[in-house]
Amino acid sequence: MEVLRHATGTLLLMLMLCGSARSAEAGTEKCKLTVETDSERLQLKRLAPLLNKNFSVSMMKDKESYTYVFQLCGDADGVPEAGVLQIDEKKSKTVVGRYNSTKAIGGSDWVMLIYENGDHYKTHCDKANRKAIIMISCDRNTAVGPLEAIVEDRERSDCFYLFELDASAVCPIIESKLSTGAIILIVLVCLVAFYLIGGFLYQRLVVGAKGMDQIPNYAFWAEVGNLSADGCDFVCRSRKREEPNAYRGVASEPEEEPEERDDHLLPM
Ligand SMILES: *[C@@H]1O[C@H](CO)[C@@H](O)[C@H](O)[C@H]1NC(C)=O
Ligand SMILES: *[C@@H]1O[C@H](CO)[C@@H](O)[C@H](O)[C@H]1NC(C)=O
Repeated sequence: MEVLRHATGTLLLMLMLCGSARSAEAGTEKCKLTVETDSERLQLKRLAPLLNKNFSVSMMKDKESYTYVFQLCGDADGVPEAGVLQIDEKKSKTVVGRYNSTKAIGGSDWVMLIYENGDHYKTHCDKANRKAIIMISCDRNTAVGPLEAIVEDRERSDCFYLFELDASAVCPIIESKLSTGAIILIVLVCLVAFYLIGGFLYQRLVVGAKGMDQIPNYAFWAEVGNLSADGCDFVCRSRKREEPNAYRGVASEPEEEPEERDDHLLPM
C-alpha cells in the first residue's frame, strides 16, 4: 500500500511537470459580432494570442503619411470602441472600424477579421461608414508578425481598408505523428521509470535500505535473473556444462599442472 501511495505521488508530480497548462482563451468576448454565431465566435477564439497588443503600421498615401493602429477586441491606441484607427500627420484620429461590429470568417490556415461601423467618409464611397478588413494568415515561424497595410479601396461604393498580419495562432494543428507502438513503448518506459524511482525512494526512505537492497524487490528480481539464466543455459547451451567437472571428477587424482605434464612428455 505504501509503495502504491508513493508511486501515485510520483506519478502525479510527473504529470504536473509534463502537462503543459493550456491558458484559457478569454478576452475575445469584447468583440461584438454583428451576427452572433458559434462558428464566428470560434474563429475569434483562434486569434486569442493577438489580444492586448497595439499593432501599428505607417504608409504613404498621396504624399501624406498615415499611421494605422489595430487591436484585437480592444481600444486601438486607447480610443474607445476603435478596432482600427487612422492617425494622420496632424495627429487627428479617424476610426476605420469598431470592434462592436465584428465579423470573423476563417479557413484552415487563415482568419479574416472585419471591423465595420467606422467613421463615415466625407465625400467618397457614398459617404458610407469606413470598414477595415484584417487578413490574418498562418506563419509557423512568427508568433505574431508585423501589421501590413495593403490598400485603401476607394474606387467603388463598397470601400474598405485592407491589412495583413501573419500569426502562428491560425495555423492548423499538426497531428501527432507517433504511432500506437511508439506510444505503448513510451508508456512502458514511463511505468518502468515510475516503478524504479518509486521503489527506490520507498526502499531508501521508508524501509531504510542501503546498497543493493535499495533496488525495489531486489530478492525477487535476483531470483528472476537466476531463473532466466538457468533457462537460457538449458535452452541455448549445446555442450553440457557439467562435462569438464565430470572429467575432473573421473580423474580424481590431484590435478597436475599442464607444464608438469609437458615435462613428463619431453624426455620421450
Ligand atoms: C495601446 O496604446 C495606447 C496608447 O498608446 C495605450 O494607452 C494602451 O495601453 C495600449 N494598449 C496595449 C494593450 O498595449
Ligand atoms: C458601436 O459603438 C458606436 C460608438 O459608440 C455606436 O455608435 C454603435 O451604435 C455601436 N454599434 C453597435 C452594433 O452596438
